[in-house]
Amino acid sequence: MPLHNSSFSEEYQRSLSDPEGFWLEAANAVDWAAKPSRAHSDEDAPLSRWFPDGEMNTCHNALDRHVAAGRGDQTALIHDSAMRGEVTTYTYSELTAAVATFAGVLRSLGVGRGDRVVIYLPMIPEAAIAMLATARLGAIHSVVFGGFAASELSVRILDAAPKAIVTTSGGLEPNKQINYLPTVHEALAKAGVPELPVIIKRREGFAESAVEHELTAVDWDAAMAGAQPADPVMVKSTDPLYVLYTSGTTGVPKGVVRDNGGHAVALLWTMDKLYNVQAGDVWWTASDVGWVVGHSYIVYGPLLAGATTLMYEGKPVGTPDAGAFWRVIAQHGVKALFTAPTALRAIRKMDPEAELLKKYDVGTLQTLFTAGERLDTDTFHWASKVLGVPVVDHWWQTETGWGIVGNPQGMGGLPIKAGSPSLPLPGYDLRVVDAVGAEVAPGEEGNIVLALPLPPGTLTTLWNNDQRYVDSYLSVFEGYYTTGDSGYRDQDGYVFVMGRTDDIINVAGHRLSTGSMEQVLGTHPAVAECAVIGVADALKGQKAVGFVVLKAGVSIQAADLERELVALVRKEIGPVADFKSAVVVEALPKTRSGKILRKTMRQIADGDDCKVPSTIEDSSVIEYLRPILRPS
Ligand code: COA
Ligand code: AMP
Repeated sequence: MPLHNSSFSEEYQRSLSDPEGFWLEAANAVDWAAKPSRAHSDEDAPLSRWFPDGEMNTCHNALDRHVAAGRGDQTALIHDSAMRGEVTTYTYSELTAAVATFAGVLRSLGVGRGDRVVIYLPMIPEAAIAMLATARLGAIHSVVFGGFAASELSVRILDAAPKAIVTTSGGLEPNKQINYLPTVHEALAKAGVPELPVIIKRREGFAESAVEHELTAVDWDAAMAGAQPADPVMVKSTDPLYVLYTSGTTGVPKGVVRDNGGHAVALLWTMDKLYNVQAGDVWWTASDVGWVVGHSYIVYGPLLAGATTLMYEGKPVGTPDAGAFWRVIAQHGVKALFTAPTALRAIRKMDPEAELLKKYDVGTLQTLFTAGERLDTDTFHWASKVLGVPVVDHWWQTETGWGIVGNPQGMGGLPIKAGSPSLPLPGYDLRVVDAVGAEVAPGEEGNIVLALPLPPGTLTTLWNNDQRYVDSYLSVFEGYYTTGDSGYRDQDGYVFVMGRTDDIINVAGHRLSTGSMEQVLGTHPAVAECAVIGVADALKGQKAVGFVVLKAGVSIQAADLERELVALVRKEIGPVADFKSAVVVEALPKTRSGKILRKTMRQIADGDDCKVPSTIEDSSVIEYLRPILRPS
């Protein structure tokens, strides 16, 4: 195979030289109520608008049109609960009916075009139903991951100002039940909206919550029984489909706004060209609807394409064993699986020789895609060997909504280089630049930036905060979107993503802000100052470790303080932070202007080469910390 696939190269070049032609052609895959005459508008520059005069409905494109095209009896959604040992399926007709009815429930609560609905649900079909129903009304959903605590939920409720919240009695984690209603109750109180309607999907096995009578509770099943189904409401292509909050470098999450039309066009392009998944194929993304990967590739992408999407409630290991993924592939005839490398590392740790794979026929699997964090070369080689199919990394972020760099399997693919997600995808004019914005030579590491405008499907702004969008992403390098990742390109143009340049870390494929953890640690009465850094972890990629300096005169046992700080982060951010260690130190290394040298700390902890900045206030602090950061 040539190193550069010529049809892909041509398509890629065309996307940059003729974006109008390229994306208008891709837009033919969408069913429009008003077909767009233009692809892109920069009338609101630096904000960009895709298909500005187009009108459509995303839910109609994901459901109704497939029923109309004769796919009504095809399975749209398979829910496989390894937690309960149950499988539930919905055909396209059944899913359309359920979504239309739930849209009727939302409408009866006053939800209409442009209104927000917060969805706080685990991996159950109702999560997809609630998202699609919101989209059906032209309203805007904001899904919050179940592993976040009440404070995080309340911040999102405050910012999104929803008309209703959709939740459940609980979620299932291995060996424990997570009761959602006390968290919702606390979050509503904190956000100052205790009377917000709360639609509750009751799940078997969960006792009625004591707080329920204090909520304006609407029973999901009862409401569905009495609701009038709602038809899709056509919206402008540029109208928001959803807001998804993601970690920023400060404690305040960023509300990434996704539009309707650009999103549908981009996802449809990726299902075919990047993932090689077409109508009727079974596609499985093992993520969670609370993350962007779940939005794009559990719910919207596969359904827009008329494929069968598999929603998995379980873990890669322990539910019941490290053969769970192979069981699901074999049982449902999965053509392609998309997961995070950490899941593969977890499987490998439990079953290094993949003995459990021998129990299953996974012959339907054609490709394994990974994203969420770098696919380390060890895991890449292991997965390639045991599965015998292409293992394809691709790099993207919540903001972009789909792959920035990838290996287009639907276009014949590119040779895979271990450690690289391959080449920039259409619409992404990627550069690697130094601190002043000058492009660096191949092989040299720098900031990865993307020339504006970004392609369709990428964020249009931050919710209620255009200025923060501009300040955070567009102001560092004029004319470019700053990804926050660093990396390099090799002689063949392959991109190698090396890590974040900011205080965002990636724990088990979950994006977290060390800044928000520091804010929480700082509220403890014994803590004078602190730094949280992400250090390398063999299973989870990174783990958060806190270093705290005590206030003068405070005496507390280090072990007691650690226990309290761990509990505090769990309470304020949630178990997803996976914050397990806090170390008391005498001092933190700082520059003369008082900035804590977190990067230097991280490099020492990871055993990387590091040059201590000349601006350091007191270099003896580094020598003191060295054995603490990296015990021999
Ligand atoms: N609701 C409530 N709690 C949750 C949760 C949810 N949806 N998801 C995770 N948690 C909790 C876990 O129960 C755990 O709690 P504990 O500290 O009491 O044990 C904590 O958050 C950390 O969870 P996690 O990081 O998932 O660690 P784990 O040790 O339970 O599992 C893996 C490790 C690798 C198996 C698991 O992280 C995994 O499957 N990762 C794949 C991630 C992924 O798909 N990411 C999507 C991006 S593409
Ligand atoms: P999220 O917004 O949760 O998708 O996280 C995005 C961040 O995760 C990126 O900015 C990267 O730092 C990291 N990331 C995601 N996918 C990859 C990948 N394939 N390779 C390297 N880093 C990745």
